[in-house]
Amino acid sequence: MSRSLNVEPITPRVTHGCVEIIDQRFLPYEYRCVTLRTVPQTAAAIADMQVRGAPLIGICAAYGIALGMLENQSTDQVHRVCDTLKQTRPTAVNLMWAVERMRTVLLNVQESARIETAWQEAIRIDEENRVQNEKIGQFGLTLIAKQFERTGRTVNILTHCNAGRLATPGWGTALAPIYLAHQAAIPVHVFIDETRPRNQGLLTAWELNAAGISHTVIVDNAGGLLMQQRRIDMAIVGADRVTKTGDVCNKIGTYLKALAAKDNHVPFYAAFPLSTVDWTLDDGITQIPIENRSLSEIQHITGIDETKTLQTLTLWEKHHPAENPGFDVTPARLVTGLITERGICLPEQLIHWKP
Ligand code: MRU
Repeated sequence: MSRSLNVEPITPRVTHGCVEIIDQRFLPYEYRCVTLRTVPQTAAAIADMQVRGAPLIGICAAYGIALGMLENQSTDQVHRVCDTLKQTRPTAVNLMWAVERMRTVLLNVQESARIETAWQEAIRIDEENRVQNEKIGQFGLTLIAKQFERTGRTVNILTHCNAGRLATPGWGTALAPIYLAHQAAIPVHVFIDETRPRNQGLLTAWELNAAGISHTVIVDNAGGLLMQQRRIDMAIVGADRVTKTGDVCNKIGTYLKALAAKDNHVPFYAAFPLSTVDWTLDDGITQIPIENRSLSEIQHITGIDETKTLQTLTLWEKHHPAENPGFDVTPARLVTGLITERGICLPEQLIHWKP
């Protein structure tokens, strides 16, 4: 798919030997781009969430491996670089998937071919993701279109975190059906969970605003009430790792939305490419490693003041014990359907799509 969309979270500059990213830590307040030239810079960009979102961190790691090959093309270097990047974040399996794909490809060619091969493979991963997202969008669109046909009124969709084009280049995953519905002139309205503590919902709002899609930002605790009030027709979220049994690990807070959706008979969908599936796992709750992030993320809050200057404030002092798990697992029984590039399936049918 073309790179003509107005938000490109990552752009390879092969002839310059570098990769440009949008530094997402400063969005939606400031649009800053950063150039990555080395493996440590790439590892830091993933770990510090300058780039974020499961597919994007996989793509970024793949480009990071290409940067590593510019330095040294030995087999030791392939392993060193792959191992370093693989350890940057633990939950999103697209990272491990992309790194292992790069490792396999590079080990299968001569040292002299590794620079070119690494760039080619990283670009292939990036391009494939765009195509997959478009397919996810087309399959998901059928759900929105059916709902619109049934009621003849605006389709209200709840989403959590950011699974748009900032997190997964092209159309995004959870947002892809929404973008395509908007393009098809189906009236949609998106309720966006703020998604504390990193507020990725604001990234979703930024994206939808740029695309002219009607939306409302809500605090993380509001979704249940809106469902009780019959103001949500369906929930669509992304995923960071899905088990072969259809358990969905996604940004912290997703599980509570799925519970509320079940209680209120609101269909709950997860949208992701099959590279998000960990085919080795059958129990998401006990087997998926949940990232614990710095307490500073919940102790501080960043925004702009009246002069539009970025400020970080302390919400509470360090003497309170605290925890900051980044993800949770929604068991398959709470999930209505999985939207992938191969189609929509029930969680228990996912296993049939194992490559
Ligand atoms: O911690 P993040 O921002 O990298 O979180 C990952 C996500 O963006 C979400 O969980 C998303 O819903 C799935 S990835 C498209």
